Amino acid sequence: MILQSNKIVIRRPDDWHLHLRDGDLLKLVLPYSSSTYSRAIIMPNLISPIVDIKSGIDYRKLILSNVPNGHIFSPLMTCYLTEVLDPDELEQAFFSGIFTAVKMYPLYSTTNSSYGVNKINNITKILERLQKIQMPLLVHCEVTDFNIDIFDREARFIDDIMHPLRKQFPELKIVMEHISTKEAVEYVESSDNKVGATITPHHLILNRNDLLVHRINPHFYCFPILKSKVHQEALRKAISNGNSKFFLGTDSAPHIINHKENSQVQAGIFNAPTALSVYATVFEELNALRYFESFCSENGPRFYNLPLNQDTITLIRKPWKIKNTVNLSPYSLVTFLVGNTLNWFVEN
Ligand code: DOR
Ligand code: ZN
Repeated sequence: MILQSNKIVIRRPDDWHLHLRDGDLLKLVLPYSSSTYSRAIIMPNLISPIVDIKSGIDYRKLILSNVPNGHIFSPLMTCYLTEVLDPDELEQAFFSGIFTAVKMYPLYSTTNSSYGVNKINNITKILERLQKIQMPLLVHCEVTDFNIDIFDREARFIDDIMHPLRKQFPELKIVMEHISTKEAVEYVESSDNKVGATITPHHLILNRNDLLVHRINPHFYCFPILKSKVHQEALRKAISNGNSKFFLGTDSAPHIINHKENSQVQAGIFNAPTALSVYATVFEELNALRYFESFCSENGPRFYNLPLNQDTITLIRKPWKIKNTVNLSPYSLVTFLVGNTLNWFVEN
């Protein structure tokens, strides 16, 4: 790593949580990730979700066929955990390298989660197998009971689901995805090395006031919903301590502008073009740039038992005003923090 006042050079990062969608939207958003990241964990929640080997292979091919010339990018595929998933098929797909991990969405927790898990007891056989083969379980950590306040859903998930789950399956490898609360930070910090967590740029740089004060900003609406400043500070402190259990996962989740600027706003933030600059900004604000490389490029591969990338990426200190670059009707997207100026520019 090279850390100079005007330049940062780090091992090339990976994105451990990414939504690429499919069709025309995939073509438009993929280059913003493949230009910067070497690998990415690809979320399976398409309208027609990735629930078996065949759909996993087809989706991987589709992604690879859209990687621009000159970009070197490996999609790491995940399988959507449905209650009818066959443990034998999963094991075969893991050992043949088709799926890197399994993603568990509680039923109706977020975009396209209607195939998600209703009761943990319904997936005992699958969890047993994941534990046995050490295949990572990626978890959207929110309960979905309508009676539970939306700001409390992650903390309740830890109490109601994580504690019993880890007791029953102590050797299961788990990534708590896009954590957003101090309870999740404390839970990860107090767990053994079977538990890791991804943290998004938006949960680090924003809190719920950014979403709600003066006007509602639909482009900051995401799941888990942004929490109060206390929680934002806990996430920032977690990364500034250099704890290797936390790693980069952008959760870039594009929705076309008509679905964001609408009376029924969809949850998700398109941050692929700006995420790495935002992370650099936050680490610098925290005076923690010495841990920037491990968060972006080392902690994730170590958790997943994958080799570290050998090439590098350079960020230079150069104010750049964020513009909307995907403006192809009907696929216009609003880029995270558009109109703002960031100080670190990623050289590609
Ligand atoms: O805000 C979100 N958007 N959170 C998720 O968990 C899913 C994602 C999406 O797919 O749009
Ligand atoms: Zn996501």
